[in-house]
Amino acid sequence: MPLPNEFIEQVRDANEITSVISSYTSLKRAGRDSVCLCPFHSEKTASCHIYADTQSFYCFGCGAGGDVINFIRLIEHLDYIESIKFLAQRANIPMPEDSRDKTAEAKQKMLEINRQAARFYRDVLLSDKGAPGRQYLLQRGLSENTIRKYGLGFAPNSWDTLKSFMLSKGYTEQELLDAALLAAKRPQNGQQGGERLHTYDKFRNRVMFPIIDRRGNIIGFGGRTLEADAPAKYLNSDETLVFHKRSSLFSLNFAKNTREKFLILCEGYMDVISLNQAGFDNAIATLGTAITPEQARLMRQYCEEVVISYDSDGAGQKATMKAINLLGEAGVDARVLQMTGAKDPDEYVKKYGADGFRLLLEKSGGAISFELKKLTVGLDMDTPEGKASYLKKAVGLLASINDKIDRMVYINDTAKLCGLSAGEIEKAVEERRRINYYSAKKAETRELINPTKKKGSDYMPTSQLTAREKAQRGVIAFMIHSPDLLPKTEKRISLEDFPDEFCRIIYQTVTDRIKNGQNVDLSSLGNEFSAQELGKITGIIQENNLLPYQKERLDEYIKVLEEHRDKYGGKDPSELTDEEMLAYMEAIRKKKSGG
Ligand code: UTP
Ligand code: MN
Repeated sequence: MPLPNEFIEQVRDANEITSVISSYTSLKRAGRDSVCLCPFHSEKTASCHIYADTQSFYCFGCGAGGDVINFIRLIEHLDYIESIKFLAQRANIPMPEDSRDKTAEAKQKMLEINRQAARFYRDVLLSDKGAPGRQYLLQRGLSENTIRKYGLGFAPNSWDTLKSFMLSKGYTEQELLDAALLAAKRPQNGQQGGERLHTYDKFRNRVMFPIIDRRGNIIGFGGRTLEADAPAKYLNSDETLVFHKRSSLFSLNFAKNTREKFLILCEGYMDVISLNQAGFDNAIATLGTAITPEQARLMRQYCEEVVISYDSDGAGQKATMKAINLLGEAGVDARVLQMTGAKDPDEYVKKYGADGFRLLLEKSGGAISFELKKLTVGLDMDTPEGKASYLKKAVGLLASINDKIDRMVYINDTAKLCGLSAGEIEKAVEERRRINYYSAKKAETRELINPTKKKGSDYMPTSQLTAREKAQRGVIAFMIHSPDLLPKTEKRISLEDFPDEFCRIIYQTVTDRIKNGQNVDLSSLGNEFSAQELGKITGIIQENNLLPYQKERLDEYIKVLEEHRDKYGGKDPSELTDEEMLAYMEAIRKKKSGG
């Protein structure tokens, strides 16, 4: 059941695009328009533009674009209808009857199930049956207040306590399985019950940590065992319709409101909760997996800087390198907190207090000193061989520091570490920079002669488009801008004049819609195209909005398309056989010399 056009328009009008995007990332004004770091790919300079007059956005870095509905579709990972619902809710507009859609309903239901389950686990924790859990949490130093703040709970040591409670509330076994609160086992051969699944509580004898997204929904759980020899210390919900580990962060619901400019990235739930109790409301953690690019970008939406506070063991230090790289790619400054005397932030803050941890934060250094220190691992720095191989690696790293003062600071540190003079190291570093500079120049020249498309991006600067490509895109933009020009256009060109497959599909869709009396603005096209395709269409519109929509320009485009048809018989030149090509070239030569 499609949503009525008037409704979609009402929703779009009620959600001004600049204000919607500004709640996800910070914007800089540029005249009437705004720019921001693109939330859909990693970058350090802002190439995502928001156009107030057309109520659209377009990223010149990755080609993401569209209207406010498509923005929500991309950033909230919703489908077209869900995005409209999301925005309707944001603007307090009730949905029209009969527009309910299955997935959104299932998601709502799952969130409700999670809410019920969290309440159940919490009530158990506070009841007699919860004594072991309560005792455990208190012994780990959490206050009643913190336990309440995080909604912690307890899953009793039983196979079906949650299951029977939830069934009594009217939820089905399948719904509980889908929400990953139950686990299932097929019955053994020969047993009664045929193909029926045997289901049981997934979390048993564990303290429960609800995982809450930034909108306050409980999307999943982590559970810590109370048993010393359990196969898994922590168990997390499996991926569900509402739980996506890759793109969620524990405690972001609190950290997003912090007054600090930085986030503290930890490994574990307990680290985050202990830090919170000690007054650091900007602590977050990934959900039992290594940090992902999605999480790095999510952090960037809320801070300028991240202090990586992983465990002090080998695994934690290795994970730190990965985090530095991913955060760097996402355009977030990373600092690294180094701890001695405790294995993780939880232990540290308990041992040395909030002030002790604050000192560590202040001392935490930039990513470079961490990396320089890492290079000594496995080397005996007391021997000349050790120093030499250290220096070899360090020079490359030092040469990559662009700021001259920073570079000198680190060169001095390195000199001290190796017992060499700073001047000598500087000479080696500057030499390396010269080599780097020339090889970069060479690559640049090669790129100029033979441009390659940006990796992982469909974005093609307009200047690199052929006349024919520009013409196809121009005609499309004109049809979207002035549908009344279709009849005249159609008299001269047809689908065959669009050799580019995507252009042909858009042209066909747009012209079909116009003939059916349907709208062809971005929001209406959202229903027919994927979020990525809509980005491409926005790119086409955007490049054409730079020029006035005068009939003469459309005429030019049509002429280019007609000319190509005459020249190559409607074929793409790359499809011509050698003979055909020769024939056309001969024809052109004749035309030119003949006047
Ligand atoms: P740690 O092993 O460092 O646990 O795992 P921790 O936070 O110090 O745990 P406590 O203090 O003993 O309670 C860090 C994170 O890795 C994930 C969890 O998210 C945990 O918080 N993890 C760990 C798992 O998902 N499964 C495991 O078996 C262990
Ligand atoms: Mn710990």
